[in-house]
Amino acid sequence: MSTWLTDTLGIEVPLVQAPMARVSEGVMAAAVSAAGGLGMVGVGPTASREWVHEQARTAGGAGAPYGLGFMAWALERDPRPLEAALETDTALVSVSFGAFEEPLRRAKAAGKLVTTQVGNVAEARRAEQAGVDLVVARGREAGGHGRDEVSTLPLLQLVRAAADVPVVAAGGIANADGLAAVLAGGAVGAWVGTAFLCCRESVFPAAARQRLIAADDTATVYGRVFDVAQRAPWPREYGGRALRNRFFDEWVGHEDELEADTEALARYDAAAREGDFDVAVVYAGQGAALLTEETAAADVVASFARAGTVTPG
Ligand SMILES: Cc1cc2nc3c(=O)[nH]c(=O)nc-3n(C[C@H](O)[C@H](O)[C@H](O)COP(=O)(O)O)c2cc1C
Repeated sequence: MSTWLTDTLGIEVPLVQAPMARVSEGVMAAAVSAAGGLGMVGVGPTASREWVHEQARTAGGAGAPYGLGFMAWALERDPRPLEAALETDTALVSVSFGAFEEPLRRAKAAGKLVTTQVGNVAEARRAEQAGVDLVVARGREAGGHGRDEVSTLPLLQLVRAAADVPVVAAGGIANADGLAAVLAGGAVGAWVGTAFLCCRESVFPAAARQRLIAADDTATVYGRVFDVAQRAPWPREYGGRALRNRFFDEWVGHEDELEADTEALARYDAAAREGDFDVAVVYAGQGAALLTEETAAADVVASFARAGTVTPG
């Protein structure tokens, strides 16, 4: 399959494994890139320069291109992880969720391809103005953080109409049918997180993977409960999509009370340490319902590559 994305990055499958902090590190990115997609390392808000260098070395170990993904609000507090990234040979830098303009300008000046995930048309226009090489149209079905405003299919059409840059679609794209659908809709590729959550190369706990395998189509919820529980200073417009659990049901609508409840916060911390996912978060998108088993990242990439043979129903 050849698209602007495969030609520009020199990859075989128009598939980006989305950056996922605490899930996709160098080992996972290397496995995806070796299999013909673009693997990305998710850089979290507390990452050090050394960690970025180490993960980049591992990701690049496959001898194939890879990417590094950042949160804009975290770089405002500490820009050093991005500075470290610009010293690596990463092909793609993504900076999303907040003031992405300045970090992307710096990454572009350092010769990197740059992108950001957008959740509405105004954000897509900002991305185009900032000079992104490609824009990720991320619908509300997606796992992890982002806007809960527009779904993937309308967003793809809207962003294609509004911005004159290549568009990669994200949110709920979980197999070859999904990839074929967005390619038919004019996307140059798909940006996929949830479908990689049960890969053995991820650093996701086994108990969390089991929850995902058991998840059905209505298993995810969107909100700020887990951000408050984790004392994570996400801007309010970027809530998270995750598996619904007991803790979410207890606190949804009472986020301000949770913030002040030291006993409940301590209970959350203990559950996160112990891997008790009735309380602790498992970020995932609506595509989680399609996860059926633990697998290898290369098998996930190969299954998406079959998009080239999907015929319209
Ligand atoms: C567990 C998890 C962690 C994520 N962490 C990040 C992150 O660190 N940085 C980022 O830009 N996006 C992050 N995302 C969002 C993804 O980049 C992407 O938008 C999303 O996974 C696409 O939708 P899908 O999950 O339906 O495939 C995360 C998503 C998940 C599921």
